[in-house]
Amino acid sequence: MRPCLRVTSAILVFAGWAIVADAGQAAQAAAGTAVPAPTNDDCLACHSDRSLKRADDTPLTVDATVLGGSIHASLSCTDCHQDLAAAELPHADTLAPADCRSCHDEPQASYARGVHAQSRARDAGRSLAASCASCHGTHDIKPASDPASKTHPQHLVATCAACHGNPDVIARGHIAIGDVATPYHDSIHGRARERSGLVVAPSCVDCHSSHAILPKADADSPVHAARVPTTCGTCHAGILHQYDAGIHATALRSGNPAAPQCATCHTAHTIQRTDSEPWKLDVTGECGTCHAQVVDSFRRTFHGKVTQLGFGRVAACADCHGAHDVQPATNPASTIATANLVATCGRCHDGANASFVEYDPHPDPSNYARSPVLWWVNRLYTVLIAGCFGFFALHSGLWFFRSTRERRGRHGGPAA
Ligand code: HEC
Ligand code: HEC
Ligand code: HEC
Ligand code: HEC
Ligand code: HEC
Ligand code: HEC
Ligand code: HEC
Ligand code: HEC
Ligand code: HEC
Ligand code: HEC
Ligand code: HEC
Repeated sequence: MRPCLRVTSAILVFAGWAIVADAGQAAQAAAGTAVPAPTNDDCLACHSDRSLKRADDTPLTVDATVLGGSIHASLSCTDCHQDLAAAELPHADTLAPADCRSCHDEPQASYARGVHAQSRARDAGRSLAASCASCHGTHDIKPASDPASKTHPQHLVATCAACHGNPDVIARGHIAIGDVATPYHDSIHGRARERSGLVVAPSCVDCHSSHAILPKADADSPVHAARVPTTCGTCHAGILHQYDAGIHATALRSGNPAAPQCATCHTAHTIQRTDSEPWKLDVTGECGTCHAQVVDSFRRTFHGKVTQLGFGRVAACADCHGAHDVQPATNPASTIATANLVATCGRCHDGANASFVEYDPHPDPSNYARSPVLWWVNRLYTVLIAGCFGFFALHSGLWFFRSTRERRGRHGGPAA
């Protein structure tokens, strides 16, 4: 039934087209000129038909008013469907994809360097990566400034999320990082943009660019570890300035793969406010992934015990070390340089003085050189505890032995 209808409609469409085309060609012949490129009307004679479908039932109808309302209203069909520019009609069943190159060589060249184009070139016909049409549309393309455009700031995230938030595309397209759209919606940037309408908060393309999108492993990518600070710093210029002065930036610049950049501490798509208690406690764990030993020593202190119990009002790592301009104690500008300690502790401890700051924020009882007093106290304590318990154990053992013997004696001992 269905194939039959389709064939009938194709025949009707073809008949209609034949009449239009014949009239046109007869006029051409009368004027004595060559057959010209098909006009939009030639194409629409068939493609305005609502019942025109591919063998797999996908529609082939083109709405001339949609194209007329797009930025390309003045284009002819064959400007994009270039393989039909000199084709005889009816055309072949399989056509080349529409070509944007001839007019947009710069976006095309950038796109060609990016991960989406590379994936499509590698995996022709099967890749699920974005083509020009995935991000811009086909006959309905509008400039990014138009609120109806897929690339308008308000729709842009949804355009990327159609794939990067879609479990099926993520699985079949082997996108290792998984769904980034869902965490982004709940991040401070996503909420600022989508709920507060703050268009200066970054969407996907502010961090990834729009055409030459590259994987993070590529040194040219704006999200490559070494380039992340610059990328975030386009907006957070003040923080970048502080970070650049710190030891972590020095380590990053020298190519140390263990050096933290913005996304190490803040993540990329799940970024949260930094003044909340849970975040402050979380980031302490993050410092600990690289500085495990000092975290152990921090946990021995009053500050460490209280933060471990889930309260953020005492000092965590960044309160003493700073968050971005972290420096070793040997650097006179460091918040933990001896000369600055009174000021550092004094932020919270009114009246902190030179003797107060002698308190060791990273006590390590196994390290004699760091603090002989602590080492001795710890040793004495261990000996005392071991001695006490050892003595009690011996005492109880002897007591037990004696009381067993006495009990036996009282009962007359074993039967003779
Ligand atoms: C005689 C009717 C007719 C005319 C005229 C016609 N088409 Fe088609 N077109 C079809 C049919 C039928 C198909 C479906 C072919 C198939 O999938 O078997 C089709 C398919 C297409 C496709 C999809 C091809 C694909 O690979 O999926 C494009 C694009 C297209 N036409 C563009 C045009 C353009 C541009 C013109 C004008 C230059 C035009 N057509 C003129 C009948 C026509
Ligand atoms: C700005 C470029 C552009 C112009 C102008 C254009 N098309 Fe397309 N067309 C596309 C793109 C992009 C696609 C998506 C498939 C592809 O990449 O080939 C497409 C797809 C199609 C399809 C397949 C069905 C579909 O919607 O996916 C048909 C049929 C078609 N075009 C016909 C036409 C006709 C007829 C005209 C003129 C009235 C026209 N096109 C003008 C870019 C264009
Ligand atoms: C991954 C999504 C994506 C893909 C794929 C994509 N674009 Fe874009 N494009 C955008 C976004 C977003 C903007 C607007 C924001 C901007 O200016 O960076 C844009 C802007 C444009 C502009 C206007 C600004 C300019 O740079 O001239 C043109 C023209 C354009 N794209 C053409 C293309 C062409 C042609 C292709 C295919 C070769 C393509 N785009 C592929 C997302 C994409
Ligand atoms: C025959 C030339 C031609 C072809 C082919 C063509 N375009 Fe365009 N495109 C234009 C012109 C002309 C404009 C309008 C430029 C303007 O007004 O600034 C435009 C504008 C655009 C814009 C809006 C640019 C802006 O300023 O924001 C986008 C996006 C775009 N085209 C994408 C595409 C895509 C995607 C394709 C392929 C499917 C394509 N174009 C094919 C000529 C073309
Ligand atoms: C039509 C679906 C689609 C759209 C729309 C799309 N992408 Fe992709 N993207 C993919 C697929 C599939 C891959 C994996 C390509 C591959 O490596 O084979 C990918 C890869 C990537 C990668 C590299 C990931 C990796 O694991 O190497 C980044 C970054 C990326 N896309 C960002 C974006 C951004 C930003 C946008 C919106 C401006 C966007 N994408 C729009 C499908 C899409
Ligand atoms: C604030 C900047 C920022 C924003 C906004 C952002 N990203 Fe990312 N994105 C990054 C960084 C940085 C990485 C590297 C992640 C890492 O090192 O863990 C990344 C990684 C990725 C990857 C994996 C790349 C790879 O090579 O594995 C994809 C895919 C991706 N982002 C897509 C998106 C999409 C889609 C959006 C919009 C919903 C988006 N990103 C928004 C900064 C951002
Ligand atoms: C070593 C971990 C770490 C690195 C690397 C890092 N940050 Fe931070 N960031 C923090 C901590 C901790 C805070 C909270 C500061 C506080 O409570 O005083 C913070 C606070 C912030 C704030 C909020 C500022 C405020 O005081 O309200 C922004 C914005 C920020 N960081 C951006 C960045 C950017 C951009 C980069 C990269 C240039 C970066 N961060 C690198 C740990 C880090
Ligand atoms: C396009 C500009 C832009 C870029 C790029 C950008 N941000 Fe932001 N960021 C903002 C804006 C605007 C806000 C404020 C949102 C609000 O307060 O609602 C913000 C807020 C933040 C906050 C929360 C600050 C606070 O008050 O606690 C952190 C942390 C942050 N960004 C980190 C980053 C990191 C890390 C990167 C890079 C991976 C980055 N940002 C890239 C614009 C940007
Ligand atoms: C991803 C790993 C990583 C994270 C996370 C990290 N650091 Fe570092 N840190 C380093 C590296 C690498 C150096 C430089 C070591 C060198 O060059 O000697 C360093 C140096 C330091 C120094 C200077 C002293 C020294 O040992 O050289 C201090 C203090 C410091 N970090 C504190 C922090 C604090 C506080 C945090 C959390 C807010 C933090 N770090 C998070 C890797 C990390
Ligand atoms: C109460 C303030 C305070 C807190 C909280 C604190 N530190 Fe420290 N930290 C110091 C001081 C003071 C020094 C320098 C003296 C020393 O070596 O003990 C130091 C030394 C260090 C050093 C070695 C610096 C060097 O130049 O050798 C690292 C690394 C470090 N801290 C990381 C951390 C991390 C990670 C945390 C959180 C788990 C943390 N600190 C919490 C005050 C603090
Ligand atoms: C972010 C604020 C903050 C910073 C910075 C800070 N502390 Fe504290 N610290 C506290 C709070 C709050 C308490 C609990 C006070 C209380 O309950 O009386 C505390 C408790 C202590 C205690 C336990 C004894 C007491 O006073 O109750 C010592 C010792 C101490 N801090 C030393 C230091 C030293 C030394 C520094 C600097 C290297 C420092 N603190 C930096 C907030 C801070």
